[in-house]
Amino acid sequence: MTKDFLQITDFTTEEIYETFDIAGELKVGESIYEGILKGKTVACIFTKPSLRTRISFETGIYELGGYSLYVTDKEIQLGVRESIYDAAKVLSRFVSMIMIRTFDHSDVEQLAEHADVPVINGLTDLTHPCQVMGDMLTAKEHLGRLENLKVAFLGDGNNVFNSWMNLACRIPMELRLGTSPKTLPDQKILKKTEEAGKSKVIVTHDAAEAVSGVDVIYTDVWASMGQKEKAKEKAELLKDFQVNDELLAKADPSCIVMHCLPANRGEEITDSVMDGKHSVVFDEAENRLHIQKAIMVQLMRNHLG
Ligand code: CP
Ligand code: NVA
Repeated sequence: MTKDFLQITDFTTEEIYETFDIAGELKVGESIYEGILKGKTVACIFTKPSLRTRISFETGIYELGGYSLYVTDKEIQLGVRESIYDAAKVLSRFVSMIMIRTFDHSDVEQLAEHADVPVINGLTDLTHPCQVMGDMLTAKEHLGRLENLKVAFLGDGNNVFNSWMNLACRIPMELRLGTSPKTLPDQKILKKTEEAGKSKVIVTHDAAEAVSGVDVIYTDVWASMGQKEKAKEKAELLKDFQVNDELLAKADPSCIVMHCLPANRGEEITDSVMDGKHSVVFDEAENRLHIQKAIMVQLMRNHLG
């Protein structure tokens, strides 16, 4: 197992399945790892806002017996007040694990490279691995299986979709992206996913084609954090990819609808879909807690040897 969890592909397929099992056990209060963070402190560094990630990590750390330290970039000014190398070395003398949410993915890679303790990616501009692990746990609970799901992601080819591609490198699925020609995902990750040969990835510019016969319809905000100046342009580019009743009528009646949240209701998803019978969005939010506890268990078990 790798020291850090920066991408879903940091875990092998077996480690991913084991993480789902541990999350399931933690969720029902039947885990031998309940106290694994006893007497330990986890630094949670945020350069972007958060509801789910902050609260689920802080609660999860507490539930595993540890103490969480919320640190904003105003405080440490990573790479500005001092080098990422120095910050990584100093943090490692105080805390047992670091969770970080920031803009530049390479900052997180540098932090992990130089930290002597495990580092978890809590979202970067490139990926959002904890989110998609929690989403897959939710899909498993609702659909009864992990493999060979058909998943359609509608909207911006963003960090969340990139993490879906990373997951598709490890678990077989048919992953479709319904998006505009100008909002494509990270091309390096797309190429790696195709080369991994585990899953089929389809990029289409037709929303109806994307959702036809799928098990999961997924959407996310059209303009991610740090891109709000592009909100108008993206809204124009992606207006045909809204998840609404009309689109849902073209999908399988047993499909589930997911959104990582926060949502811009009325933009990428309508109220009627978000609050409708296919929606599992709040189960996804809850599962962030359970899956992140399991990810912390995996890293801490490995770190403690
Ligand atoms: N889904 C998610 O990561 O939510 P927050 O931005 O509120 O943490
Ligand atoms: N793509 C979104 C996800 C938020 C959880 C963003 O990066 O803002």
